[in-house]
Amino acid sequence: MLPTKLNYEKPSLNGTIQVPGDKSISHRSIMFGAIASGKTTVEGFLLGADCLSTISCFRKLGVEIELDGNQVTINSKGIDGWTEPDAVLDTGNSGTTTRLMLGLLAGTSFHSVAAGDDSIAKRPMKRIVDPLRLMGADIRGRTGGQFTPLAIQGTRLAGINYTLPVASAQVKSAILLAALNADGKTVIEEPVATRDHTEIMLRHFGVDIKRNDNIIEMAGGQTLSARHVKVPGDISSAAFFIAAALVTERSEIRLENVGTNPTRTGILDVIAQMGADYEIQENETAGERSADLLIRSSRLKGIEIGGSLIPRLIDEIPIIALIATQCQGTTVIKDAEELRVKETDRITAVVDELSKMGADITATEDGMVINGPTPLSGADMKTYGDHRLGMMAAIASLAADGSVSIDDPDCIAVSYPGFFEHLNNLIV
Ligand code: S3P
Repeated sequence: MLPTKLNYEKPSLNGTIQVPGDKSISHRSIMFGAIASGKTTVEGFLLGADCLSTISCFRKLGVEIELDGNQVTINSKGIDGWTEPDAVLDTGNSGTTTRLMLGLLAGTSFHSVAAGDDSIAKRPMKRIVDPLRLMGADIRGRTGGQFTPLAIQGTRLAGINYTLPVASAQVKSAILLAALNADGKTVIEEPVATRDHTEIMLRHFGVDIKRNDNIIEMAGGQTLSARHVKVPGDISSAAFFIAAALVTERSEIRLENVGTNPTRTGILDVIAQMGADYEIQENETAGERSADLLIRSSRLKGIEIGGSLIPRLIDEIPIIALIATQCQGTTVIKDAEELRVKETDRITAVVDELSKMGADITATEDGMVINGPTPLSGADMKTYGDHRLGMMAAIASLAADGSVSIDDPDCIAVSYPGFFEHLNNLIV
């Protein structure tokens, strides 16, 4: 049973942990292993609810997937060997599963239906359905295909030239996955760079894909070769402990083997600008980079965060907002309107929840403004079923006087099973 009431008195954090595997890379490892014919093995896989949804969907497509701790073995006959699912593909709470899988299903020769939980039913799918339809996809859904459940009749696809209207790695990836199975070349222009795990993993599986500035080019009809995939720790999960060490007194922690792909390290740029005391010790890698991070308690100052930095830290904004409550001066977060269509509206939710604890925080259309430092006090915190809101509340409790209750701590298992064990191990 996970705790719902947290009451720490001026804790310090000390010690070493290895955060669980990267969520984005874990999803992709299953999908790429399912596309490739043969045996793909994965180590460091995230056993979070979202990635388990991906496994269960691909099993329903006839792909053999075995789990042994956080090692996965995928035996696939290749995308042409997938079979028509006889039930709805349940994507749970996972936007990445829903959107990337849609790109793959569009180019099969069978019918399928994808649907998830209440949060997925509210998340915009038009951004995926529009470019896939331009490629020839036959997808139907509520309000003309804007929302799940989505019914997909697989068909022959053609490559496209497409400029992404939103900075979204999920949209880019869905198009690239559809393009693998399409006739001709696909060219995607990305106005602001987003996480490039799909491109890195495509190359790892033997696909020829090029990037020049903001333009990505890939020929259709390429086959993938089964591979071994090493998943580094998730920097989006590490972010919560980075924040925990920064906002508590006399803390010093080491986070081992954290993914440091530059498209994901915006949080490190932010804490550097805020004046944090930390070190990065890079590991040797091919493909995805990783490092050990050493973080110490720090006196921090407020900064401005916006522009091309936003996609590099989009999932970290709830915890950055908490850090900002403890910074000297004002932090402004802008250009982050995408937060309104995440697992919940993260602008409203973060502002409402941190305000309850006494933070000086105001919502704007595309972000928030936080004045600090402010003392935080105990409160009854809501997660809105959003794992990152749950973890933000737990870390906020370390800096608060009084007890913090969390209404639905179980939702944290979406991306970080074992979060409370790690927290308790680090607290001294
Ligand atoms: C993800 C991309 C981002 C991110 C999400 C995971 C991915 O979403 O917020 O948690 O794995 O590609 P968007 O593509 O909607 O920005």
